[in-house]
Amino acid sequence: MNLGGLSPDKAPPVEAPLTLFYLMPFFLCLAGLTLAWQGDQVMASRWAPAALATTHFLVLGALAPVMCGALLQMSPVLLGAPYPRVRLVARLTAAGLGLGGVLIGGGFLLSLPGMLLSGGGIAIAGLLVFLVGSFRALSAASGRRETLWAVRLAALALAVTIALGLTLAMVRYGWLQLPQHLRWIDMHVAWGLAGWVGLLLAGVGMEIIPLFYISPAFAAGLKRVLPFAVIVLLLLVVGLPGLPPSLAQALWQWLVSVLFVVHLMYNANALYVQKRRQRPRRDANLWLWQLSHVAVFAAFFAWVFDASDSLLGVLLLGGGVSFVIGSLMKILPFLTWLDLQQRRVAGGHMQVSLPRLRALLPEALANGVAWTLGSAMVATLCGAFAPYLTTLGGILLIACAVLLAYALVRAAIIRRGVIAQFSPLGQPSGGV
Ligand code: HEM
Repeated sequence: MNLGGLSPDKAPPVEAPLTLFYLMPFFLCLAGLTLAWQGDQVMASRWAPAALATTHFLVLGALAPVMCGALLQMSPVLLGAPYPRVRLVARLTAAGLGLGGVLIGGGFLLSLPGMLLSGGGIAIAGLLVFLVGSFRALSAASGRRETLWAVRLAALALAVTIALGLTLAMVRYGWLQLPQHLRWIDMHVAWGLAGWVGLLLAGVGMEIIPLFYISPAFAAGLKRVLPFAVIVLLLLVVGLPGLPPSLAQALWQWLVSVLFVVHLMYNANALYVQKRRQRPRRDANLWLWQLSHVAVFAAFFAWVFDASDSLLGVLLLGGGVSFVIGSLMKILPFLTWLDLQQRRVAGGHMQVSLPRLRALLPEALANGVAWTLGSAMVATLCGAFAPYLTTLGGILLIACAVLLAYALVRAAIIRRGVIAQFSPLGQPSGGV
């Protein structure tokens, strides 16, 4: 790995990101169960309660915690911007997303307004803690300007998305009226997927892909322009509910196409730099990252050829999950190793040998996670034509969640074992 320009010594305690990472397998499992149970409805309509529940299990419970956890970890190392009281921020964000995610998903699934709204309040409270921490960390930072702006604007997009989410939840149950309701839902989807998820993954991807695979850097112009282009387009989406419906619909089609094109430029550049990488070995992470880039291209064609919204949703959410799991499997062994190395040096335990990265996450396990996720996506997509296949997709997603949970627990047990060797009494001196 190329560590030039990074400050690993500024990394926060590893427990902070791990607290958030542990949520992912649980919510992948909930999404898999919903797909296995009501997959035919998920593929039949984007408005089906099961479709909205699966979407929010994935965006709030699986993606957001890992994205927030990765930011807590990367901001000080990459941008020189440490979060204040990072353990507390991690715990409160994890509690909000964990409880809120279950209640929002459950509220959609069981059509219980109180459950949905209280879940929205709790998830938003957790995310506000994260956003306040991000504001304090990122407003003073000055390193890597392009990435810093991508992260700042992604955090802004998250704030807009959750505010719109709570508003829509009130509209859904008749507590509030909005003219052109559908346009407001489009706004929530666009700020959530193209802004928060798309912008953060692109901004971070343009840093970590060259880092992990020793590849050429991304085009400087793309790094500079992408975050602002996405935010300008999203601001135009905000104006749509004020326009006559037919004009708003035509502009929405145009804006989504341009948003796709901007994100495709990143994904095409990512495939190109990955092809020119200096580390020739292909591993599960690289497969998952490439799957995510291809999924965005496929989603674009699905949009152009007017395929069903459910198909589009599976491609975009599957692509996001694929990139995030790929990154998690790269970061997990590295963070665990780095934490052990720092403890070893600080305590003068140079006689204790550390496990190798490969031992912290064996290749077969990483491949298992990648294969189950890839096949879950393919089976769920085929469910658009043969609905019973979504059940298979759900079961494969549960298998992926179980393997990912095993990978996380296994790394934690190895870490505890090594920490025990540092302590004179053989007792672990830090939490897992
Ligand atoms: C990271 C944050 C979030 C993202 C990325 C996100 C994403 C989405 C997406 C993609 C949809 C459309 C589903 C479809 O078309 O099938 C949607 C709908 C919706 N979301 Fe969110 N969401 C987020 C947070 C929230 C929160 C915190 C709430 C609060 C309860 C919420 C409430 C809603 C509601 C009520 C709808 C559906 C509107 C309706 O059909 O009446 N979302 N969201």
